Amino acid sequence: MPGHRSGLSWPESIRSGLASLDTTELAATDDLHQPTGPARAAMELAARCFGAGKTWFLTNGATGGILTLLAGLVGRGRKVILPRTCHVAVSHAIALLDIQPVWLEFPRSVLPDPLGFLPVVSVPMVFEAIQLHPDSAAVFLTSPDYYGRCADLTAISHVVHQAGLLLLVDEAHGTHFAVAPGLFPGTALASGADACVQSAHKTLPALTQGGYLHLAEALLVRNPLAADRITTALKIFQTSSPSFAIAASLDFARAYLETEGLEQVEKTLAAIQDLATTLWPEYLVSPAAANPVRGEFRDPLRIVIRSRDPVARPATELARQLSGQGIDIELADLTRLVLIPSLDQPSEDFERLRQALRSCRATSQNDNSGEPVMLQKLEQSWLELLVQPPERVLVPGDVLLRPETVTPVPLADSEGAVMAQALAPYPPGIPLLLPGERMDRPRLDLLIALRNNGINLSGVDQDSIRVVV
Ligand SMILES: Cc1ncc(COP(=O)(O)O)c(C=O)c1O
Repeated sequence: MPGHRSGLSWPESIRSGLASLDTTELAATDDLHQPTGPARAAMELAARCFGAGKTWFLTNGATGGILTLLAGLVGRGRKVILPRTCHVAVSHAIALLDIQPVWLEFPRSVLPDPLGFLPVVSVPMVFEAIQLHPDSAAVFLTSPDYYGRCADLTAISHVVHQAGLLLLVDEAHGTHFAVAPGLFPGTALASGADACVQSAHKTLPALTQGGYLHLAEALLVRNPLAADRITTALKIFQTSSPSFAIAASLDFARAYLETEGLEQVEKTLAAIQDLATTLWPEYLVSPAAANPVRGEFRDPLRIVIRSRDPVARPATELARQLSGQGIDIELADLTRLVLIPSLDQPSEDFERLRQALRSCRATSQNDNSGEPVMLQKLEQSWLELLVQPPERVLVPGDVLLRPETVTPVPLADSEGAVMAQALAPYPPGIPLLLPGERMDRPRLDLLIALRNNGINLSGVDQDSIRVVV
């Protein structure tokens, strides 16, 4: 990320013309908050490309889009059904909007998939939550996740709509799905979602912070006021000076997807397939094809790599070694690397990755410390604690938005304390504790062990965390 490869995916006119694109609201440029001219035309082209009834350009990332979506379509104080594995932006929306979260219940025996750490939400889980909480306003899901794994949104949307709820999707990692319906899982909109947000900068040649917010045509027919509510909410959560440079890059990214996207996707999938074949049996690499008919809902463009060495070192260490060889890893959890190729990633880059992984393999095989058994146990307890809610003591908004009640304490001494902010291993930025929740011994032990294995913790500042006095 970002998907423009330091501007190499752009034509020279954009690469060298960024300063001239950084303009303000003029007759020739339009107003991104109230578009009537070229910006409106660009958003309409995006709506057509992504199969939306209406599209907005986001210049504060999917983060701003998630806040806008929940404020505009759900509003204050309502119940929303969602998994605990959402991005931290969702927990901020919960606090700001006093949303009552109804956490989806994952099966107790949830096991990490070799190529995707996060569990995927199933239809029965959603069905059960709706039965228990029919007064909810919406179901909010992330699909695909950081590892490219997707929920069966078509089946879920039937269940959600039968109950009269909205289906809202964080599709931050799936902006490129629209280009090739046969090669990727269906987009959120094509699968029946009412609305979604996308982080264009993650997988398309758009500037960082560039994203799209889409409303489905069917939602606009049922509720014509929905568009007005999004426009109003966007003015709250997005700067009053939205960047025209970002907006122009979003327009370019859409045009690129439509004209060159499919060809580039096919080339990149072939390169991933080749990588997977040639790195086997030392490494397991995510398959470059997925068959939704067989229930394989994953993004074949997302590269997930896992060493098959039973005594491999933590993936965070492998990531550091690769970074020393000029290869940027998007995410390393305990046992997997996640890489996001740009659509036009040159074949030499795949070759460099292959060579670098081979040279790192030798290093890990020399060290039979027995650590990985512990890593797998740690991963299992991370997953279990991620999906089980801890004790909630205070309402998130009462904590996050009352700074006078907050004090720092050393992380090691925080057992029993009530969190004043989210604590999230980062990336992927999925909180283990939300504001208002109590730190318990298993979570504290886990956080310390994760840090000892090279995982960054968002919310920990020089060994201390913010708790409620
Ligand atoms: C699932 C998910 N949703 C939302 C976001 C926020 O996206 P942005 O960086 O565009 O604000 C991220 C960022 O990593 C993410 O992984």
